[in-house]
Amino acid sequence: MRRIIIIGATSAIAEATARLFAARGDALCLVGRDASRLAVIAADLGVRGAVRAATATLDVTDFAAHAAVLDEAERELGGLDTVLIAHGTLSNQSECETSVDALRREYDINALSVMALLTPIANRFAQQGFGDIAVISSVAGDRGRMSNYVYGSAKAAVTAFLSGLRQRLQKSGVNVLTIKPGFVDTPMTRDFPKGALWAQPDTIAQGIVKAIEKRRSVVYLPWFWLGIMGVIRSVPEFVFKRLRL
Ligand SMILES: NC(=O)c1ccc[n+]([C@@H]2O[C@H](COP(=O)([O-])OP(=O)(O)OC[C@H]3O[C@@H](n4cnc5c(N)ncnc54)[C@H](OP(=O)(O)O)[C@@H]3O)[C@@H](O)[C@H]2O)c1
Repeated sequence: MRRIIIIGATSAIAEATARLFAARGDALCLVGRDASRLAVIAADLGVRGAVRAATATLDVTDFAAHAAVLDEAERELGGLDTVLIAHGTLSNQSECETSVDALRREYDINALSVMALLTPIANRFAQQGFGDIAVISSVAGDRGRMSNYVYGSAKAAVTAFLSGLRQRLQKSGVNVLTIKPGFVDTPMTRDFPKGALWAQPDTIAQGIVKAIEKRRSVVYLPWFWLGIMGVIRSVPEFVFKRLRL
């Protein structure tokens, strides 16, 4: 049985993943900013087999509140061995091009809050000598594009942070998994036209649980995004800058 804290637990991808954990009989602490939605999800996870489904409220940009929430989760579950960080916002790119406040807010949510949460979590897991850290980054972090480079660069920062953290923690028995989904049909992408490359949250959730269990380092979900991003990364800059992506 795992003792799992999920940050951003109301996310569609996180909820689908939590259902798989619950069905295995894991213990969960769901963290998010919407207490009533968390309560509904927790009740559902209890029915699905979770041995414990606690909740804690947190707006991740309230950095001063992070430590207390982690303490609460540890108390509720009697320890922690797995963390899934899933929160995020798809930044309004054009707003961020004209408003530094908007740019900073997006970085707080998508990058800094993740790093801030991982700092005490990494130290706790290193001290106990075990643990699995899984964070949802994005394929958008693999190369900045004009249509979403604020979001993409925040995810790139998270990806690089995780790469270094993975090296630091590997001798402590702690695994760090970077999850890079492609297009997923969730509330975040509700306004986008959907096509063949789109996946459902359940598919991504299965990939996440499998990658945690196998203690993978980096996973593209679905797998074909590894090839797509390989091609996108290989386009020379003098060509890339003329594309309208
Ligand atoms: N959907 C995609 O195509 C896609 C692709 C690649 C990566 N991702 C990443 O996957 C992760 C999950 O996203 P999703 O697709 O499942 O979208 P989603 O259902 O819209 O979930 C986003 C989550 O982030 C939470 N959140 C946003 N700001 C927050 C804040 N300040 N404090 C606390 N929680 C906050 C939201 O909470 P509320 O419910 O309270 O709003 C929601 O639970 C994100 O990191 C996203 O960047 C998504």
